Amino acid sequence: MIHVRNAWHVACWSMDLEAGKPFAITMANDPVVIFRAESGRVVALEDRCVHRLAPLSLGRCEGEALRCLYHGLKFEADGRCSDIPGQETIPATARARSYPVVDRHSWIWVWLGDPARADPALIPPAVGFDDPDYILGRGQLDYAAEARLIHDNLCDFTHLAFVHANSFGADEEWARTRPKVTQLPRGVRFERWVRGQNRSTINGGLEPVDLWSCYEYHVPGILLMPSASYPAGTADRLRDAPPPPDLPRTGVTFTSQAVTALTDRTSRYFFSWGPHRDHGDDALRDRLMGVAAMAFAEDKTMIEAQQKVIDRDPAHPVLPVTFDKGVVLYNRLVERLAREEREGVSVAA
Ligand code: FES
Ligand SMILES: [Fe+2]
Repeated sequence: MIHVRNAWHVACWSMDLEAGKPFAITMANDPVVIFRAESGRVVALEDRCVHRLAPLSLGRCEGEALRCLYHGLKFEADGRCSDIPGQETIPATARARSYPVVDRHSWIWVWLGDPARADPALIPPAVGFDDPDYILGRGQLDYAAEARLIHDNLCDFTHLAFVHANSFGADEEWARTRPKVTQLPRGVRFERWVRGQNRSTINGGLEPVDLWSCYEYHVPGILLMPSASYPAGTADRLRDAPPPPDLPRTGVTFTSQAVTALTDRTSRYFFSWGPHRDHGDDALRDRLMGVAAMAFAEDKTMIEAQQKVIDRDPAHPVLPVTFDKGVVLYNRLVERLAREEREGVSVAA
């Protein structure tokens, strides 16, 4: 499994990180401990004490530092050991690796690669709970499957017609039409009209709409998708051109999703979804979250089953078909960025 380490990986929801309580997570096979220090700043360290390798996540937050609760070594936010009980000299090698970390858009983002290249401007513009325009709900799921299979799933919405016929009520229009797929410096963009879809309305009903679906998938697995619906017939009228910004919409939602590789065979999937304030309320948000819970369980069932088949014969070839274009572009991008990392080339666009 290839991991792009020079990227911002989502570790957890910001609101789930309680002050003074260390949180342990494995990210791309690295054991990481994250805590919110007394000042409110978030710290991420290697979850392994230099002394006898106990997990620091079993330790105690002290101000801006974390003390290992095996034999008491204390580590500052930069990873430097500042106290060895009963020993005056602290060797320079007494250091925990510290990771660049940013609290933004309601997620805690950790840069797993070269700290010198950690540029917060590379954090994809997810919509968090601090955005006044959206009424969001959230959730997360753990997968017994490699993150790559979830990336593949999210880079090809053909499966909506088959996996999500019940939950999203998606029809075969999703499989018959192809999105326009565009390579971005650190992701892939997908855009298309999907005609005649049923959408939940604010008063609890369903209405037929044309859906403008335009989303981006960024390394290391961040999906950002605004969806706007228009009266049925709009796509024909525009001859499939993107909708002009001032065209009245019947509904607008936004979903932000993050796929984090925990190990080579396990992953965590974070998601939020909800309507724009002008097109919805808490009740619509709750209905959408009910649909999302059902839909994402459908993906999990399929992908974990797929992983088991792959594991039986990992060398077995796959058969590429036309709707794999986005999947292929994203995987090529990941391979290129990982290669550049190994060769020490810049991560800049
Ligand atoms: S293992 Fe942490 S102080 Fe001994
Ligand atoms: Fe899906």
